[in-house]
Amino acid sequence: MAHPFDFEATFNQDYLHFHRADLDDEQANEDTARVVDLLDLRRGARVLDAPCGHGRIANRLAAAGMAVVGVDANAHFLAEARSHAAILGVEVDYRPGDLRRLPVDGGFDAALCWGNSFGYFDDEDNRAVLAGFHRVLRPGGALLVEALHHDGFVRHFTEAPDATLIERGDDVMVDVTTFDPMTGQLQARRTLQRDGTVRRSRHFVRLPTVPEWYDWLAGAGFTEARITDPSGGDLTLDSWQLVVTALA
Ligand SMILES: C[S@@+](CC[C@H](N)C(=O)[O-])C[C@H]1O[C@@H](n2cnc3c(N)ncnc32)[C@H](O)[C@@H]1O
Repeated sequence: MAHPFDFEATFNQDYLHFHRADLDDEQANEDTARVVDLLDLRRGARVLDAPCGHGRIANRLAAAGMAVVGVDANAHFLAEARSHAAILGVEVDYRPGDLRRLPVDGGFDAALCWGNSFGYFDDEDNRAVLAGFHRVLRPGGALLVEALHHDGFVRHFTEAPDATLIERGDDVMVDVTTFDPMTGQLQARRTLQRDGTVRRSRHFVRLPTVPEWYDWLAGAGFTEARITDPSGGDLTLDSWQLVVTALA
């Protein structure tokens, strides 16, 4: 049976509770600077951030002078994004929506899919997500995706299963992850205990190989695709993550 993705149990207040420390201001500033650099964004550029989560990058791009639309399926994250925007005194057009059916018209100079946010669906829908980004970019507009690198991940993956533990005071979150070579997915079973209550969920992330990335991008209509390590240097077998840039 296919490994399920329990979206609502994976992305909710628990997610922010356990991940907030990794998604702090310093990390958000660093990620935003890399996005601006990799996309060569100028003030006034029209940028789509999807999924934007709780707006940690979208709000900072708006503060840097971009015209930003943020899309995410999670209403709680969008509410947090809006209140942070109000604190910063910036405007972002936040819209609830699904990556497979982006609720925006075309004309974007750039689209951003950051933070291991690609690969949540079956391959037909993963490819539809890329086609959706292509549809909303202006001709010559750029897509930027940050993702785990299939080969680097598999090479360094400890013998399955691999477990990660996050502690926040007395609360704990444990992900037991395996890699399924038949589907190219990392598949995780999550057990968390928060305020004395235990919750369980499952999720997966499809990690396309580099040749698959090029094939899927071309199939979605992109040209001049480039895949590098996260700093913009050459991807190696040791790179855990990769960055995709492609022109519509
Ligand atoms: C790993 S988080 C990354 C968020 C953001 N890019 C960042 O770097 O902070 C993944 C996000 O995907 C959103 N998401 C999951 N499935 C989605 C879907 N089908 N459509 C839109 N957003 C989705 C979640 O709500 C969550 O905010």
